[in-house]
Amino acid sequence: HSDGLMPRPLFHFTPQRNWMNDPNGLVYDRGLWHLYYQYNPEGSDWGNMSWGHATSADLQHWTEHSVALPYRDREQIFSGSIVASQSDGGPLLTAYYTSAYEDEHQAQSRATSVDGGFTWELDPENPVLDRGTSAFRDPKVIQCADGEGNNHWIMLTVEADDRQVLFYSSTDLRTWEHESTFGPLGADGVVWECPDLIPLPVDGDTGNIRWVLLISTNPVGDNPDPKGSSMSYVIGDFDGRTFTADSNELTRLDHGRDFYAGVTFDNAPAGEKIMLGWMSNWSYAGAIPTAPWRGAMSLPRRLSLRTSAGSPRLIQQPPQFVQEWFLSAAPAAEWLLAQPFEAVLSGHSFMELRWDPSTTGTFRVTLNGEAEAKVVIEHSPETGILSITRQGDAVAAVHPHFPATCTVALDSSGPAQLLLSLDGPLLELFVNDGEISASNLVVLGTGPVTARLESSQPGRISSRSCDVPETQAPV
Ligand code: FRU
Repeated sequence: HSDGLMPRPLFHFTPQRNWMNDPNGLVYDRGLWHLYYQYNPEGSDWGNMSWGHATSADLQHWTEHSVALPYRDREQIFSGSIVASQSDGGPLLTAYYTSAYEDEHQAQSRATSVDGGFTWELDPENPVLDRGTSAFRDPKVIQCADGEGNNHWIMLTVEADDRQVLFYSSTDLRTWEHESTFGPLGADGVVWECPDLIPLPVDGDTGNIRWVLLISTNPVGDNPDPKGSSMSYVIGDFDGRTFTADSNELTRLDHGRDFYAGVTFDNAPAGEKIMLGWMSNWSYAGAIPTAPWRGAMSLPRRLSLRTSAGSPRLIQQPPQFVQEWFLSAAPAAEWLLAQPFEAVLSGHSFMELRWDPSTTGTFRVTLNGEAEAKVVIEHSPETGILSITRQGDAVAAVHPHFPATCTVALDSSGPAQLLLSLDGPLLELFVNDGEISASNLVVLGTGPVTARLESSQPGRISSRSCDVPETQAPV
């Protein structure tokens, strides 16, 4: 028992020491996945914001490098993005980030790297995009082709307090022209942060591309919602300058409490869209009991669009390496669940369950470790609701807003599939092949975890699980 501390994940990125929040500057470049992130080089609370840096060849094993963009006198380096391009001098990485000045003014700045993202040169003309406002931030630059061989770049930024995404265009990655503004829409009482815009084929049909706008929202004001920050998306069209939404609602992207500031990698092979998010919540991020580090990234998620009930829906699938872990483990066991069954997991594990709600009735998985706490995942065919509850003394001890029940509708008309990824305090659920995701920080202690399976009626279920060995720990 390490004094109620949460253990360090094995197959998710965490910094060796100190505070981390949003993923920044996600880019694939010549065989390496680069992850930059909001980082405090000097402590385990938010502050001195800088871009930390890690790289991976496989999105599973990460190597941390020295701070890429350190904070400066009166200027913090807030979130942003990187694009890969070709210049006369060879491959070039261009980073856009928010300069957050001590006097509360926020504007976009630029830096370039010719050595593959390890050293950066700041533009002497920074900030390069400035409206003189105080919540103008989180530039995400994407490349757009007009189909006639002409490329331009689009930068999305937010005016966070206005709940707006501003679109700018550039043909040289230097000068930017305002093209359009999207929003406000959806609930008020929040700020909009960390936008991204991604083209995806519907059901794999490359002749039918739709655009997905990602937005992170964080409650603000006198009585902010204690549920805290979360991510949403809206599907629509993008003509290269203006985004037009199909609906004037935002759809929740992840149904857990701990998935925020998710953005995708630029330049990923085969045009794949892969997203990383920060697995925490501004409601209690500063109280998470880890040391000497604080903050973890989610699994990298492969994004796609699948038609469901007549309209496209954003699908999030776990990375390929999860399947590889299952292949190295025992095959699925299938049996009649007539009485509770307990499986023992190391706590750095994957588990896949299949059941048919029409025979099992209510199906429940309870996770329990050495901590005075448990996680209950339950689906009831009567209500059609999947719920995830974290509860117990050790949960309440983290922060008053930390105990939680998350709910999401799960259709019970057919068989259900649940992929559970548990890596120390990080629990990510993927339901029905990625139709639903739910990410939560959990308190289970440092030792093994028991998964207790039970159903209200005897019904056939199938289960397989595997533990990820300690040797997977990042070096
Ligand atoms: C989102 C965010 C961004 C900002 C950064 C500061 O979590 O608030 O809007 O750039 O974090 O660390």
